[in-house]
Amino acid sequence: MDKCFYTIYCFLIFFNLSLFSCEKNDSSSVEVLVLGAMEEEIEGFLHAAKNVKTEKWQNFTFYKGQLYGKEVVIARVGIGKSISAILTQYFVMRFSPQYIVFTGVAGALNKEASIGDVYIAKDCMQYDLDTTALGVELGTIVEIQRRFLPTDPKLRNLALSTPLKEVTIREGRILTGDAFLSTEKAHVRQFLSEELDGDAIEMEGASVGLVAYVNQIPFLLIRTISDRADGTAVEDFSSFVNVLSRTSRDIVEHVFLHLPR
Ligand code: ADE
Repeated sequence: MDKCFYTIYCFLIFFNLSLFSCEKNDSSSVEVLVLGAMEEEIEGFLHAAKNVKTEKWQNFTFYKGQLYGKEVVIARVGIGKSISAILTQYFVMRFSPQYIVFTGVAGALNKEASIGDVYIAKDCMQYDLDTTALGVELGTIVEIQRRFLPTDPKLRNLALSTPLKEVTIREGRILTGDAFLSTEKAHVRQFLSEELDGDAIEMEGASVGLVAYVNQIPFLLIRTISDRADGTAVEDFSSFVNVLSRTSRDIVEHVFLHLPR
């Protein structure tokens, strides 16, 4: 009887362990999270990806497959800091990625930048995180004592070395906040570009960057300039986002092909 009990016990342990290992394979970690805020920002990657499977979490759809030889999850993480952080953290916990790549559009703050230029972020900052009234510098994340979130130097340098024809690729500081900036007021843009040294403005980079920082995952942030964050920003943005260049795809392909196996 004892022996029979022991055999059943061993079988159950073995069965449980193999179930566990299946589950691990099944929830399958991926090498890279490829993220954008809007459908237009991930569309090109979905066309280039192979063996794409559509999955859902709550109301949010995402895609698993292979892109330029890497196992990836491609997802739209929504517009704004909170939703993009929630979804990125979910994907991190579920897929344990080795890298996070975010691509999309941004408004120019740097006067030298033109529509169609690409910024590779050296760092990013939540410019609307404001506890200055309490004596804390604008943008400081008190919990980690940081204002500027760095991107990964290896990924950044690979991205900057992409051979691109007729596109200017720049390195710079991306500012993130929960507002689409389309103001006629030059002093607002002047503050962001001169006081905070921002080159481009958007709505998700630093929130996704914060998730990457906290989870210690190398992060790459690529933004193509769609407008000048001024009075004509809405029109420029709307026409540009529909013809979103293939530049970010070329950069991601170059980075993936040069990442170590
Ligand atoms: N993304 C693209 N253009 C933008 C702008 N002007 N403000 C904020 N986010 C943007």
